[in-house]
Amino acid sequence: MAIKLVTTAAELRAEGARLLKEEGGSSLGFVPTMGALHSGHATLARTAVAANDVTAVSIFVNPIQFGDAVDLDRYPRTLEADMALLDAEGVDLVFAPSVEEVYPDGQPLVRVTSGPLGEKWEGASRPGHFDGALTVVAKLLHYGLPAGPAADGGAAAYRAYFGQKDAQQLALVRRMVADLNFPVEIVAVPTVRADDGLALSSRNRFLSAEEREAALVLSRALRLLEQRANAHEPLDLPSAVGLVRSQPLVELDYFDVVDPRTLDPLAENCQDTPFRGEGLAIIAAKVGPVRLIDNIPLDS
Ligand code: PAJ
Repeated sequence: MAIKLVTTAAELRAEGARLLKEEGGSSLGFVPTMGALHSGHATLARTAVAANDVTAVSIFVNPIQFGDAVDLDRYPRTLEADMALLDAEGVDLVFAPSVEEVYPDGQPLVRVTSGPLGEKWEGASRPGHFDGALTVVAKLLHYGLPAGPAADGGAAAYRAYFGQKDAQQLALVRRMVADLNFPVEIVAVPTVRADDGLALSSRNRFLSAEEREAALVLSRALRLLEQRANAHEPLDLPSAVGLVRSQPLVELDYFDVVDPRTLDPLAENCQDTPFRGEGLAIIAAKVGPVRLIDNIPLDS
């Protein structure tokens, strides 16, 4: 069945209900994105399609999560190519609303506050970013909520898919859904990487060949920690930090090992005693003009 594009919340609701009924379906998968889709997004869509009767993907470049108007303006908009990619993955519906559809009264007066979890790491260098992201995710999750009963009379299952790549966003979305009782199951999808290890990102297109090569030090340093954790060795974070600092084109912002839920540093666990338990190594750096983030879950 061909993919369908809708641009209003009313159409999304009507089409979602129609498709669920038509397919005799009992589950809806929803994948929020900002477009400029790559294989990472495709993997989210594929995961949703495999687990649900109907899958909807939203494409919306959310102005209130950008601190910088230039960043917002230069965010790539590639709807035609995005539609083709999602069609190939078997997605049923694409919701690509206008800014006026999502924010009819201009900037929303009431917003979701991300709290202390939204102020650290990425939040520290992008003030207000996570409030803006959570506010739109709240709205998008409401738009996608399946209307009416499933084919068997029960409530349709509702699942939303987020990438591990944006670990802080994922942790915050999980907290929002738990703290505010959203009727949706959050599913995390592992980070998709290029063959050389670079985490896929819509920002990678702004890297020169030389910068892209330099950026590989991020995933190399994370892998180093992963190998040590798997071998039950001390993580020796300082030596991994040293590796990143040895790359002149890379300006390190942060590199730490944290609790995957609170994102608080696991300071004692990552120096000179063997690593035990669960952690998340997170890194952010500027490579040339581009700010990159990456992370790797540690489990030993
Ligand atoms: P965007 O950057 O388009 O990302 C959409 C989803 O794709 C996010 O859940 C993100 O974590 C995931 N993703 C991006 N790169 C990935 C990769 N290499 N591997 C796996 N998943 C990847 O994140 C946003 O949009 C926005 O903040 C949004 C949630 C849509 C709210 O505006």
